[in-house]
Amino acid sequence: MASQLPARLTSYAAGGGCACKVPPGELERVLEGLPAGRAGADLLVGVENGDDAAVVRLDGDRAVIATADFFTPVVDDLRDWGRIAAANALSDVYAMGGEPLVAVNLLAWPRDLLDFGLAAEVLAGGAEVAAEAGCHLAGGHSIDDREPKYGLAVTGLGDPAHLLRNDAGQAGLPLTLTKPLGLGILNNRHKTTGEVFPEAVDVMTTLNRDASRAALAAGVACATDVTGFGLLGHLLKLCRASVVDAEIDAAAVPYVAGARESLADGYLPGGSRRNLDWVRPHLDSRVTDDELLLLADAQTSGGLLVVGELPGHPVVGRLVRRAGDGARVAVR
Ligand code: CO
Ligand code: CO
Repeated sequence: MASQLPARLTSYAAGGGCACKVPPGELERVLEGLPAGRAGADLLVGVENGDDAAVVRLDGDRAVIATADFFTPVVDDLRDWGRIAAANALSDVYAMGGEPLVAVNLLAWPRDLLDFGLAAEVLAGGAEVAAEAGCHLAGGHSIDDREPKYGLAVTGLGDPAHLLRNDAGQAGLPLTLTKPLGLGILNNRHKTTGEVFPEAVDVMTTLNRDASRAALAAGVACATDVTGFGLLGHLLKLCRASVVDAEIDAAAVPYVAGARESLADGYLPGGSRRNLDWVRPHLDSRVTDDELLLLADAQTSGGLLVVGELPGHPVVGRLVRRAGDGARVAVR
């Protein structure tokens, strides 16, 4: 399909994927002033800890999980972009321990630059992944925009007593990562050179469903997904919410093939650099800056960071008791 485009799809995007997220520090400052959305009564998860989705209790054993995610093209293939954006949006329901029930499309399209008919391929990719997730996909909203953007607003269901919250982490428990990192770096290389990284596309289009179900089955109470703020950013948020510190064993963290070499070759998204700038004051690092950049790399449709052990996935660190006033992450 890419051949029908007047230019490569990623060339229409200024940023890329979750790397086009608003920087975490800026977002926190804006949200600070908001009066609404604090958890209490039936709002089980509100805005206060920056968890993956909002959760509202319906009755004793059911809760509604609501989230939305959309971004600019991260790959040149229209259908793959749709699949990646959908898997990424659905992930926030899985990251809360829920199952997606229904989703609607969010689409922005530069109709004067790109034939609107091409959007069908993006929507088909999204529909393919929603179907795989057993999630209804119906309608949505589209606007004319200078940059193409696509994603989903997803409504899911969970059990209020068995959620995967980011404020439920306990010192002493291991940290497990369910997908390799390096997706932001490889997407940056793809955008710059046009080289395709099939393993990265496979990782980004893989649902976090199985990891979420396995975590719930293992009695896990705390998890988040690793997206635009990188492993270090999402871990820092989890540590703040759970009032713990963390240790990361850098050598245990898995990467998609080519990520390390691509960083050495200079392919680094601006968002990954901003993530490291944001978390650095809270780090105690014994590793190189390159290692920290890899750990802070802005992921698109990344895996779950689970507080507990999951068979088949590497333990990359652990939570430890809060030592001082604010959350600290030690990297060894
Ligand atoms: Co998330
Ligand atoms: Co999200």
